[in-house]
Amino acid sequence: MSKQRIRRSGIAVMSGLIVLLGSLSYAMLFAVINGSLGFLSAMGVTAFGALGIAKALGGSIALSYGWIIGLTVGCGIMRGLLRFFEQYLNHFIAFRLLAVLRNKIFEALRRLCPAKLESKKKGSIIAMITADVETLEVFYAHTVSPVCIALTVCITIVTVLAFCISPYLALIALAGYVAIGIVLPLISSRFMKNDGVDYRRRFSSFNAFYMDSVKGIKDIVLHNAGEKRLDEVADKSRSLSASALRLKKKITFAQVITEAFVSLVTLSAVAAAAALVINGKTDIGKGIIGVVIIAGSFGPVIALSALPGNLSQTFASGDRVLALIDEEPAVHAVENGKDMDFGSVDVSGVSFSYQENYKVLDEVCMHAQKGEIVGIVGESGSGKSTLLKLMLRFWQKQCGTIEYDNEDIDLINTSSLLDNVTMVSQSTYLFDETIRENLTIAKQDATQEQIDDACRRASVYSFIQSLPEGYETKAGTLGDNLSAGERQRIGLARAFLRGSKLILLDEPTSNVDSINEGMILKSLKDNRKDACIILVSHRESTMAIADRVYKIQNGKISEVNINAKTR
Ligand SMILES: Nc1ncnc2c1ncn2[C@@H]1O[C@H](COP(=O)(O)OP(=O)(O)OP(=O)(O)O)[C@@H](O)[C@H]1O
Ligand SMILES: [Mg+2]
Repeated sequence: MSKQRIRRSGIAVMSGLIVLLGSLSYAMLFAVINGSLGFLSAMGVTAFGALGIAKALGGSIALSYGWIIGLTVGCGIMRGLLRFFEQYLNHFIAFRLLAVLRNKIFEALRRLCPAKLESKKKGSIIAMITADVETLEVFYAHTVSPVCIALTVCITIVTVLAFCISPYLALIALAGYVAIGIVLPLISSRFMKNDGVDYRRRFSSFNAFYMDSVKGIKDIVLHNAGEKRLDEVADKSRSLSASALRLKKKITFAQVITEAFVSLVTLSAVAAAAALVINGKTDIGKGIIGVVIIAGSFGPVIALSALPGNLSQTFASGDRVLALIDEEPAVHAVENGKDMDFGSVDVSGVSFSYQENYKVLDEVCMHAQKGEIVGIVGESGSGKSTLLKLMLRFWQKQCGTIEYDNEDIDLINTSSLLDNVTMVSQSTYLFDETIRENLTIAKQDATQEQIDDACRRASVYSFIQSLPEGYETKAGTLGDNLSAGERQRIGLARAFLRGSKLILLDEPTSNVDSINEGMILKSLKDNRKDACIILVSHRESTMAIADRVYKIQNGKISEVNINAKTR
């Protein structure tokens, strides 16, 4: 089902990122105005200083020394104030944006969950939430406004030079800005493009590998594969460093070339000003001021030339984040459909494949209704969990119908479906919160009585009572000390607490001993009148409580004789 994704162009990433700014774009505009005026004020300090020197050297300057000193000091103060506001606004935008981006990523993950997330590496999602978002923060705080500031400052200076000093000096400045701010960055971005992408890719793959190794450390130790794994981590780390070094070398080379260009343009301005003064085209005062203005004006364009190295990383990060935000979920939530009140479910002629040409389920039919316990057996990988996921619409069935009380599943509001149907999957995730919070995620307003009852039914009540802090024990502090069976029973209690009318149990007792299994099955049987249970299991002892048993084999389903239930 996975398709090779086409990478967005730089322009598409930039515009996509700017659209994400939303109402923060006004703050960005103010930051740019402050930044531009701030830089021009800074230049005012040197320009008015140069004016003073020019006047002292006999240039025809109309301003008095008092005005010149006043304007120089005024520009200095303005520079400070404007810089403060620019920085304040930039950081305000950056921090707000971090929150906005993380929210958007979380929203996207929620939308894509659970189907699409099954195939995404957790490490790369973590890299996205941390590193990519940080890179984008740099983009907004240190890329967008420098570009705008550079543009404003360059246009202002070229205009001032052209009309007040000399059009020749204006031309030299313009050529310098175009070379340093546009031509060089374009060349170096082409030159570094693949290195930035390569670095981000290695970084994300290293994170995924490292996370995976930490998670699987027990198995690594058990199989005495520590040395090998360590070598692999070291290898990946070395290749990541080599990639970073390659990128850094290119960035440094680009910086050297830029500095050389700045010197070249300044020298040209000095030569041109000298020629103009010698030929009587301008006086010495204007010549000095022109050169001082040009020499001091490269700050914003130099900032631009430093962008490509970051920019290629930014584009790679931006592309990944935008791709996630724009990714189409495997199924769209139904919002304007019908609500349901579970009575029965009918699956008929349903086929499903994750990959083309390989049908996991092939025209499957089954029926279950309130008051029943229906079993599903089948070999590992035969599609049992897939069928349950289709009944929850985690994936879109490819043909056939799944109907709840004669209403097609695709027309039922997703929230109503999830209120009526719940699933205990093969692995229960416990949050790093108290056991109570882990249970009440299923029903936030549950009373103590309801919680106790659900725990008794899942045969986990006495275990929780035996913990020193009972329900208030943090699941995280138990960590791996919580046995798989205890974890599974807490998952079951969570589902019972939810009180859904259809409960899909995927191997609910696979890790539970026979005494506890007996108790859980008895409670399932005793409470069957209020609900319907679809039970997937390999165990015959579990299937003994089922009213009907279906077997999935080679994608086909068939009802098996209840007295001769075999796998
Ligand atoms: N997200 C997915 N993408 C691609 N293939 C998948 C995905 N999930 C499951 N499969 C494949 O679909 C087939 C059926 O998987 P499923 O999990 O439904 O089997 P199962 O009967 O529940 O097995 P088990 O008894 O081991 O839990 C397997 O071959 C599995 O590898
Ligand atoms: Mg399964």
